[in-house]
Amino acid sequence: MQRQFNNRRTLMDHARCVLGVAALMVFAAGAPLRALDNGLARTPPMGWNSWNKFACDVSESLIKEMADAIVRTGMRDAGYHYVVIDDCWQVSRDANGNIVPDPQRFPSGMKALGDYVHAKGLKFGIYSDAGTGTCQNRPGSRGYEFQDARQYAAWGVDYLKYDWCNHSTQDSAASYSIMRDALAKSGRPIVFSLCEWGSTKPWLWAKEVGNLWRSTDDITDKWDTGKKSDGLGVVQILDILDGLESYAGPGHWNDPDMLEVGNGGMTATEYRAHFSLWCLMAAPLMAGNDIRSMNDEIRDILTNREVIAVDQDPLGIQGRRVKRDGDLEVWAKQMSDGSRAVALLNRGAQGKTIQVSWTDIGYPAQLGAGVRDLWEHKDLGHLKGSYSASVPSHGVVMVTIKPE
Ligand code: GLA
Repeated sequence: MQRQFNNRRTLMDHARCVLGVAALMVFAAGAPLRALDNGLARTPPMGWNSWNKFACDVSESLIKEMADAIVRTGMRDAGYHYVVIDDCWQVSRDANGNIVPDPQRFPSGMKALGDYVHAKGLKFGIYSDAGTGTCQNRPGSRGYEFQDARQYAAWGVDYLKYDWCNHSTQDSAASYSIMRDALAKSGRPIVFSLCEWGSTKPWLWAKEVGNLWRSTDDITDKWDTGKKSDGLGVVQILDILDGLESYAGPGHWNDPDMLEVGNGGMTATEYRAHFSLWCLMAAPLMAGNDIRSMNDEIRDILTNREVIAVDQDPLGIQGRRVKRDGDLEVWAKQMSDGSRAVALLNRGAQGKTIQVSWTDIGYPAQLGAGVRDLWEHKDLGHLKGSYSASVPSHGVVMVTIKPE
């Protein structure tokens, strides 16, 4: 009896000890991050944002025309739902601290504009800043978070992009968490887009704060700027995103910044590559061009449903670079149907042949797989072991490879 008791005590001590060590390990590693549970952006959000093309030149007529064009061109039906007004819509605060939209540019007010956008079957987005002023020195939300969130909800806002200028000594996670709580309190489902440019490694903390976080400085409408900050080209952004894959997933995405497709600074080949790689990385797809006047070539890029399906795959895995040989790269994304989406990327100045081997993408070499070209919209047949294609300078060939 005595012996049994001792044994039991020993067992209990042992269990306590194991639990204690486990608790210590969790403590040491930091408690695992819970994802923000607002249920939104289960696939990367898609829409249009005014900044890349129009900067401060925003108005209610521009936004209405853009909403019309998003419907007319088939962008809405391809999945672009959020129409987001970026910086410069706001001018001041009134005596009660309420944020005041520019009365000249938005004479009907934000509620009426939100209603217009909603009537088109679209969603309405707006912009503010976690500091005292926005990046264009309009009023920020610091100290007004709950009041602003209530106001946005009353206007019918569905998406908030929240910037990081004029933040002084504020802590990023704490500041963004205040607005997260304010949005939750507003009672309206609002996608929360963090924009602190990757400056405080949001991939490490923002999963439980926002639905997406900018992972880099601002994009410019160029393939390669050679700059590490302040005006990144497409290839600079790719290199920053490489390695951040494990942080993305349904409801919480790395954001390599909005699209420049159609803004005129790159060739159609480069825009096709830009778009393909953003989709491969499960990036939020916020078009940044003038939808009203885009030509058919640009429309065909932005509305390529086979490429968009790669971005919107429900598994929500961010693709990664699986092979690099000088200027020639292979990027791959695991898809929910067991296939891989693959982009063969040529960063060099001359056209080159690029090969992907099945073993590069986690398949046995002898596996038979169906290969389909997502830009040519063509099945390329049943292949074994590898696939190669000639890829133009600054271009991609994008395929799915599906075991069959
Ligand atoms: C920052 C953001 C941009 C844009 C501007 C607006 O630079 O990163 O995306 O919102 O501010 O001023």
